[in-house]
Amino acid sequence: MAPILEGTTLDADGRVLSTQWSDQHVSRFHSVWLRDNAPDPYTRSPDNGQRLITLQDIPRETRIAKVEKTPEHLLLEFEPGNKFVKFPLDWLYANRYDRVDVKTKDCGTLPDGLHAFDSALTLDKVSFQHADVFNDLDCCKQWLETIACYGFARLQGGPVESGSLFKLIELFGFVRETNYGRHFEVRSEVNPSNLAYTSLGLQAHTDNPYRDPVPGLQLLYCLDNSAEGGESQVVDGFNAALLVQQTDSEAFRLLSEYAVRFEYRDKSGTCLTATAPMIELASNGELRTIRFNNRSAAAFTDIAFDDMESYYAAYRLFGDIINDSKNHIEFSMQPGDSFIVDNTRVLHARNAFRMRQGEGSRWLQGCYADRDSLFSKIAELTR
Ligand code: FE2
Repeated sequence: MAPILEGTTLDADGRVLSTQWSDQHVSRFHSVWLRDNAPDPYTRSPDNGQRLITLQDIPRETRIAKVEKTPEHLLLEFEPGNKFVKFPLDWLYANRYDRVDVKTKDCGTLPDGLHAFDSALTLDKVSFQHADVFNDLDCCKQWLETIACYGFARLQGGPVESGSLFKLIELFGFVRETNYGRHFEVRSEVNPSNLAYTSLGLQAHTDNPYRDPVPGLQLLYCLDNSAEGGESQVVDGFNAALLVQQTDSEAFRLLSEYAVRFEYRDKSGTCLTATAPMIELASNGELRTIRFNNRSAAAFTDIAFDDMESYYAAYRLFGDIINDSKNHIEFSMQPGDSFIVDNTRVLHARNAFRMRQGEGSRWLQGCYADRDSLFSKIAELTR
């Protein structure tokens, strides 16, 4: 419920409407913004909310000629064109943009609603029972919200059946297919095409920074884990970036301002490259995407000579923080367990594993999905 609209003031040429609210907020709106966002059925489709006009349909000299207030609406008349539009007061308050916090934030701010985590995060907080997310909509929503908030959630006790990962993705979205296929098998191979398919340990990394855009979500589903070792770890890349900033702001600047190239090639001719910062910021300074993958970082050729040594020092600092067990969450996966990471933020790793006297194996299936469908499903379940 919005505060009460106590009054309005229109400037002399009708270009700026000022609104005074009972919570002491004073919010100004430009006439062109109001006209462009008119909620009437000729401007916005009542069916899907899509805008039906372009900016060119709005006269450049658009002004507000008249303002009338009702208990729940503000009725505005736009000139030229004698266009009357009714704005719900709740909507106006919710969409006010004349606010201090809209301005650019300090570089490296954690986006609203997200929680950075380190090893102090208890696994219980991000763990759910596999069956519950299928049978209980509230639990499904909590699972998705946990992924949105922490960039990571795990499920336990699922069926030990190949292909089960697809049913999980279908709860909110669609598999994102890549050159690895609709899904990929993660287990030892004699001649692996990718280090992930060996029994070696893997440094914490985000997947596929050589793609543009990177896969938003990764699901890993365990079907066999009778080998020794192979524990999984996750590291919050946003937390690591914040620690870089606190430790050495110049290192943070280098990692966030310089774009570097990532690359993947294989014998089939696939050649994927993308160039982006390891710590990517949004235009308002918020943390946006972390890319960290020693295996697919190409030779850095886009960094000034005078900054190269400092860049390497910053890269090393970022890696040291990522490798620090104080920032890890570690867990073992049993057959039927799975976890999802937000691959734009949370890094994953695994310890080396070995067969027990030639017996046993470790078999995971993995796939990617997009983040937008996850957020859409949360909104749908919230409605
Ligand atoms: Fe990976």
